[in-house]
This record gives sequence, structure tokens and C-alpha cells, in this order.
Amino acid sequence: MKVIVTKNAKELANEALKVMLEVVKSNPSAIIGLATGSSPIGLYKSMIADHLENGTSYADIKTVNLDEYVGIDESNDQSYIYFMKDNLFNHININLDNTNLPCGKVDDMQAECDSYTSLLNSMPQDIQLLGIGANGHIGFNEPGTAFDSTTHIVELEEGTRLDNARFFASLDDVPKYAITMGIANITNAKKVLVVANGANKAKAVYEMVKGEVSESCPASVLRDHKDVVLVIDEDAASML
Ligand code: GLP
Repeated sequence: MKVIVTKNAKELANEALKVMLEVVKSNPSAIIGLATGSSPIGLYKSMIADHLENGTSYADIKTVNLDEYVGIDESNDQSYIYFMKDNLFNHININLDNTNLPCGKVDDMQAECDSYTSLLNSMPQDIQLLGIGANGHIGFNEPGTAFDSTTHIVELEEGTRLDNARFFASLDDVPKYAITMGIANITNAKKVLVVANGANKAKAVYEMVKGEVSESCPASVLRDHKDVVLVIDEDAASML
């Protein structure tokens, strides 16, 4: 695992951008796995700025996203599909038909899980971007999730709901369930780029980099992956 410790948010975004652009430029029709949450926002801003300034094209890029809340759809500004359009897709020349997220509002959620796994099998990620939860979760794979899991429905931990409540009007509005790529779908990516900042991520970063490889810290699975780049700030690196 390559660890890059940066001094501030701008440097973090720049370092992450370099990793992302290496993939996008070497393969203009690459499949990139994307993430939501606050951690990737700086990178998305840098991708947009680079697209506008340097003309990096996403015309043939395909995307798959990690996860989505269950029970809300695109009309809800807290849905991850809304987030992706708002923070990235609407500002680069990507074809929306080439973007994929699991849907959190269908009658048969198990069928949605199965079809998302089939989709991922047919389009393995050249790179997967990840944030990390304070408890070490990746996507919405909470501690205890099997390393061989594929797309599934998860009941969110109380701590995860509390962490994400800042984006909602109240804790009651935070969905209790989510649909997420499984851990096997994530580690299937050729390359994994993890971004994390802030002291509240220090313990999870420590567990991922130096702790035991164990299902109690989902991110620790990345230690067995052959190509992982971790870009973090000094606060997130403070326990390393
Ligand atoms: C959510 C997302 C994860 C993300 C995590 C951390 O739970 N499902 O993909 O990595 O939050 O979020 P943040 O980057 O806002 O700290």
C-alpha cells in the first residue's frame, strides 16, 4: 500500500487527482468506481477544474458507484445519485448513460443487488475511489461484513447514521438501510485510491494500514490488494 501524507486539503486533492488522471488519460474508456461522502469532494472539484482548464475528456469513461441509501431516490438531494450529479457528473463531459449507481428505491431490492453484481462483473473497475468510515467501513460495508461479499443490503450502524446526520435535516431522516457493493466487488478493482482527512479518521486509517487484517475493520482487506494508494492529511495520519 502506497501512503501519501499531505499538508492540507488542496494538496490532498492534487495528489488524488494525479492518481485518477493517470488512469483516465492512459485509458479514455476506463471504468472508474466512484464514492460519495465529504472525503472525495476535493478530488471531484479538482477533476472539474482540470477538465475545464486542460480539457481532460470523460466522453467515453464509464462509472460505477459504491452505494446508495435505501428508500430515497434522485428527487431527494441526499441521495447519492443526486450527489454525484451535483458534485461531478453535471460539470464534466460524461455521458450519463455511462454512469451507474445501485438504485435504492425499487420493489425487489434483492433483484437490484443481483443485477448490480452482474453489472460489476461485466465491467470491473480500472480504479475504485474510496472514502473510509470512522469505523473502518468502505462503501457501506460495516464491520463484520464478509470479505467475499457482493452487492447487498445493509442495516446502517447507529454511529454511521450519526456521522451522516449532518447532511440531513435530522437523525430521523437518515435512512436505516443502504445498498452497497460488497467487499469482493471493491477489491476486484485493478487499482484502489483511498482518500481520508481529519482526526476522526485517524483510528480507522491506523487499523487499515497497521492493524490486523480482519473483518472487524473492512478497510483492512485492502492490505492484501496489490495496488492501493492512500492519500491522507496529517490529522488522518496522526496514529501511523
Ligand atoms: C458514507 C459512505 C462511504 C464514505 C463514508 C465516509 O458512509 N457510504 O462511502 O466513505 O461515508 O464519509 P465522509 O467522507 O463524509 O467522512
